[in-house]
Amino acid sequence: MPDSRPKVVVTRKLPEQVETRMQELFDVTLNPDDTPMTSAQLAEALANADVLVPTLGDQIDAGLIARAGENLRLIANFGAGVDHIDVATARQRGIHVTNTPGVLAEDTADMTLALILAVPRRLVDGVKLIESGEWTGWAPTAMLGHRVFGKRLGIIGMGQIGQAVARRAAAFGLEIHYHNRKRLRPEVEEDLGATYWESLDQMLARMDVVSIHCPHTPGTYHLLSPRRLRLMKPTAYIVNTARGEIVDENALIRMLEAGELGGAGLDVFEHGHEINPRLAALPNVTLMPHMGSATIESRIEMGEKVIINIKTYADGHTPPDRVVPAML
Ligand code: DGY
Repeated sequence: MPDSRPKVVVTRKLPEQVETRMQELFDVTLNPDDTPMTSAQLAEALANADVLVPTLGDQIDAGLIARAGENLRLIANFGAGVDHIDVATARQRGIHVTNTPGVLAEDTADMTLALILAVPRRLVDGVKLIESGEWTGWAPTAMLGHRVFGKRLGIIGMGQIGQAVARRAAAFGLEIHYHNRKRLRPEVEEDLGATYWESLDQMLARMDVVSIHCPHTPGTYHLLSPRRLRLMKPTAYIVNTARGEIVDENALIRMLEAGELGGAGLDVFEHGHEINPRLAALPNVTLMPHMGSATIESRIEMGEKVIINIKTYADGHTPPDRVVPAML
């Protein structure tokens, strides 16, 4: 009997229980050795599958989408960000794109708070000093950082992750400010104790810490441009757990080198995993390998969302986490 289950190609290794469930439900091709697929392999998958499950790092551009087969009707991304997929072109071809929002918000917010604390309080410097074996004991002027309590935090992008950061940061005594495309409802603002700034420029000039939580789109590419970075206080910190492309990384590095900013906590970089050596050489930065959502719980729940999106689509309904260009 022919297999009537949807033909699904998954581009990277996923948590075991997610892969097992996919094998039960779909005619699925997995990637057990986790080698990223080449563009030619992605094109082949798009040509032959009913559903592609890509993730961050798989560039699904207009050229690839143009080569998709007639059966390809769903790109069910494993991840919240879809900036590696040409959503508009997919839509023109009648292909749904879905993502996995919500389930990674709390974990990403935890990592953001870790960076907001780690950079001013020199957490990594402290760890390195212990590991070096050169710590000679407590001293009144040793390892001094800066106080976090009472400082102003400016959140750019007040979606689920931005709001989860706001709740945590308020508990650490930070004053919460935000800039967002759309102002939050008054009751939500009140609940978060958050002050809205219509002008990003004005907010940037007054914050002690700026944390980025908007998606990367053509409109947010280099949102923190050299001009905007220069508006910030010379003591301010930047934290980015969203996408590296939102900050002009060269300008950020120049300013950090010149002591024109206090420091940076970065989980993402402008050129993916290629870290600019000048950034890595700076003393006042904490750099993480894109670990915001890296908990087993998040990754399983992301997989469950992918499965629900595929199953709903295969059952003839609109998948719940459909991304449309107007959302971006
Ligand atoms: C996402 O989901 O887009 C994150 O950046 C990776 O978890």
